[in-house]
Amino acid sequence: MDWGLKNRLSKIIKSDGRTVMLAVDHGYFLGPLSGLEVPAKTITPLIPYADSLMLTRGILRTSIPQDTDTPIVLRVSGGNSIVGKELSNEGITVSIEEAIRLNVSAMALSIYVGSEYEHQTLLNLSKLVNEGEKYGIPVLAVTAVGKEMGRGARYLSLASRIAAELGAHIVKTYYCEGFERVVKSCPVPIVIAGGKKIPEREAFKLAYNAIRKGACGVDMGRNIFQSEHPMAMIQAVREIVHENASVDEAFKLFNSLKGKRKGK
Ligand code: 5RP
Repeated sequence: MDWGLKNRLSKIIKSDGRTVMLAVDHGYFLGPLSGLEVPAKTITPLIPYADSLMLTRGILRTSIPQDTDTPIVLRVSGGNSIVGKELSNEGITVSIEEAIRLNVSAMALSIYVGSEYEHQTLLNLSKLVNEGEKYGIPVLAVTAVGKEMGRGARYLSLASRIAAELGAHIVKTYYCEGFERVVKSCPVPIVIAGGKKIPEREAFKLAYNAIRKGACGVDMGRNIFQSEHPMAMIQAVREIVHENASVDEAFKLFNSLKGKRKGK
């Protein structure tokens, strides 16, 4: 790995080998989903607690202060929508020049292993890695799970390993039963998505289990910004990821912060 690429990666994955990424890229196919109707309003107070922000260029340009020090992981795949025919039909939506212009620390793209457009999305990843390697920009591959695909260790190991084999520098996948197998067979760091909103304590359990079984962090979205207390939520998740807090400790912190103004 070249110095520039390593340097960018080190901004995302901190010196303890862990990371709390805030995923707010959902609008690229879901539109104005709950909690992100007015992106700046939701995202701005969370920025100080996020190790990086995963978002699209539209939200970056319109909703994120230009003087932010928080590294940007730019979503560069898309071309589908929740009401369209096929979610897996994605292409690369942002040029490498644009990613450089936006001063991003990494680019993120989804692959859909086992879907109708598997081939296309895997070639998208390969192309993006080729471009990223030229300029020292790491690539995060998201192992997207379509309707027809399972979320078991077998499938997620397959998708994560393929992403790493094609050159992804970080893999974002889902937590599952037997998650340690997914981590063991993937030679690059893994972060987990939070998935649909679940009760806070359950979300802490998810993060805790993922970290314990080898994830280097979370790339969490809805379980933070759809919580009634997003700031308390992200701070408690940080305690699990960076301070090895237990589920009980995180929940206790969440409850103590949610009463305070800054925890709202
Ligand atoms: C879809 C994505 C998401 O848009 C997002 O990043 C997922 O985050 P969460 O599941 O925690 O809301 O990557 O493939």
